[in-house]
Amino acid sequence: MHSIFSKDLHLKIADLLSPVYSKDERETLAFHLLENIFGSSRTDLLLNSAINISEEKNDSLNLIIDRLLRNEPIQHIFGEADFYGRKFKVNEHVLVPRQETEELIQLIVKKNTLTTPKILDIGTGSGCIACSLALEIRNSEVHALDISDLALDTASQNSNALEANVTFLKCNILNEEIPESAFDIIVSNPPYVLDSEKKQMHQNVTDFDPHLALFVSDEDPLIFYRVVAEKSKKALNTNGKLYFEINEKFGSEVKTMLHDFGYSDVYIYKDLNGKDRFVSGICS
Ligand SMILES: C[S@@+](CC[C@H](N)C(=O)[O-])C[C@H]1O[C@@H](n2cnc3c(N)ncnc32)[C@H](O)[C@@H]1O
Repeated sequence: MHSIFSKDLHLKIADLLSPVYSKDERETLAFHLLENIFGSSRTDLLLNSAINISEEKNDSLNLIIDRLLRNEPIQHIFGEADFYGRKFKVNEHVLVPRQETEELIQLIVKKNTLTTPKILDIGTGSGCIACSLALEIRNSEVHALDISDLALDTASQNSNALEANVTFLKCNILNEEIPESAFDIIVSNPPYVLDSEKKQMHQNVTDFDPHLALFVSDEDPLIFYRVVAEKSKKALNTNGKLYFEINEKFGSEVKTMLHDFGYSDVYIYKDLNGKDRFVSGICS
């Protein structure tokens, strides 16, 4: 066992991560390791408190640094991700929830005027959208579907752990009908990264996030949007709202498509990075 000041350990970890991560990334990662391995808080770091390092903790620190240097996402290493103020279990079967998707929750919650909306989340993955909406809109009735049994299993573990009341269904949205109707809100963050964009992506995404959750073919990049928009016309109530998270390249195409299907009040919203990221429309 030896002792080290937290600022020194933070710096040492950040240095070890420098071959793979930017300054901001490695400082954040180093803080996560202090927190998760040594139980050290931000205040401990500010106060530069001493940290006791046992041989066992030292071994697990080195092991985790190796995994990070091989581009494994920290969320997979610790098996959890923060999303909208809550912890979600994640694994190789689900997409690690993204910050943009938190903005989608914020948008839906802000725009909602109903006290007991019936909501459907298509392509639920970890269940982050469905569980967050169920918890943020307290008297909502939330349903969520996915093609993957293993994703649904993870999502239902998350809903149990968070005490979010969500009904999960297995469904391949591309060739099955939406198995319920009379929804007030349908939301989907479907696969939207083009196969051709794979090459430009960080290895910690392409090697660890499930490809089923990410990629669509360049030949038909809007397939999920078209199918969901069409099927949602039948499954939404009049004045029900459809929300999509989108690939920033396709804002105007998705907007035109929703108009063509007869949706009204179609808007494109930008994410915090100023990129077209969400589209909504009203079923009239
Ligand atoms: C981009 S991920 C979104 C996950 C989660 N909703 C989120 O925002 O983090 C897309 C999800 O769609 C699911 N999916 C892919 N093809 C599908 C299909 N044909 N029918 C239903 N779900 C599908 C994937 O399994 C994956 O969980």
